[in-house]
Amino acid sequence: ADNASAADAGTSAAAPASGGPANVDWGALSFGWHPTPVHVVASHTRGGGWSPPTAVAGDPYIRLHVGATALQYGASCLEGLKARRRPDGAVVLFRPTAHADRFAASAARLAMPPVPTDVFLAAVKAAVVGNAAYVPPAGAPAALYLRPLLLGTGPRIGLAPADAYTLVVLATPVGEGGGGAGRLRTAGTTVVDGVTAVITDAYDRSAAGGLGGVKAGANYAADLLPATAAKAAGFPLNLYLDAATHTAVEEFGAANFVAVRRGRSVAEPDTYVTPESPSILRSITNDALAVLAAAAGMVVERRRVAVAEIEALDEVAAVGTGAGVTPVDRLVWGDRVLTVGSAAGRGGGGSGGGRLVALASQLAAIQQGEAPDVHGWCEVV
Ligand code: PLP
Ligand code: COI
Repeated sequence: ADNASAADAGTSAAAPASGGPANVDWGALSFGWHPTPVHVVASHTRGGGWSPPTAVAGDPYIRLHVGATALQYGASCLEGLKARRRPDGAVVLFRPTAHADRFAASAARLAMPPVPTDVFLAAVKAAVVGNAAYVPPAGAPAALYLRPLLLGTGPRIGLAPADAYTLVVLATPVGEGGGGAGRLRTAGTTVVDGVTAVITDAYDRSAAGGLGGVKAGANYAADLLPATAAKAAGFPLNLYLDAATHTAVEEFGAANFVAVRRGRSVAEPDTYVTPESPSILRSITNDALAVLAAAAGMVVERRRVAVAEIEALDEVAAVGTGAGVTPVDRLVWGDRVLTVGSAAGRGGGGSGGGRLVALASQLAAIQQGEAPDVHGWCEVV
């Protein structure tokens, strides 16, 4: 329920007509489902390669064989990226090639045929063009979210890769203007209150050799129960630890963990810290923030982050395409409350992620076309 407000839960089966005006309240969107007219499909058969991506209008259903490996064995992986409208009117995708590369890595881990970068880009762009009325106006606190999916669609009952696969790209407008937890909170460089997250101790997201490092649908299946329990207990985010020892931070259910440790003297630079582990999904947002942090003179550390270290970190945030940059002030761990910054002699609580929020604002300005894209991250559709 946190993810989908009544306004955009999309309970209606019908898709709006293609090309019609987008009757969307851009300021009221959540990260939910708002109906759009077009999705894009391409298919792959063994020996035949990929068909050109085709836009399908007015029919948000796909026909699947009952034996499809996506249904039988969860042969499914996904991506998530955003299109935004710049002040000059151009529509840009954020780092689509990085998403294509990660999608290919996910496919390979699941024994599926990777979608070539040109097919991925053509399909994503066709989904943007087909739903152009749903790309928010420049400056709106929203974006068009693109969801590429790769599904095993050939039938199998014996456990083996399918002979047929389908790429689907769907699109839906989502909010990113602050407000509810799990949304971008970047009001300039204003310091904002962070959220309280919970550490999931009874379950693991992924073991070291599992699927955690790729964007398999199964990772989100594993998270549904813990995430729902966390939300029911009042926590918008849940953090996973390493499966082997439960002593190191991994990531949130759908976002990376990033932190700042401020220099303890004027001579010591601030440090951008993020956990390194084979079972963490490498976030493209996290990577971009780390680039901006380094450019701002911060030291960037990718390393093991102990849970015991959390109170000595000055700022923590959950970062990702969907989550934006959400500052986290406290983490509840069993009967303990870990307050970010409290062991750093800074009082803790309400830090709101000063440096992280500043980096997030810088990133948002690049994504929205309000600051020069010196890193070449934005690709015009
Ligand atoms: N970690 C997980 C498990 C995710 O689902 C996501 C979202 O895609 C992220 C991290 C953030 O990755 P990105 O910044 O590439 O969206
Ligand atoms: C994304 O940020 O694209 C996600 O993966 C979020 C989604 C799984 C809720």
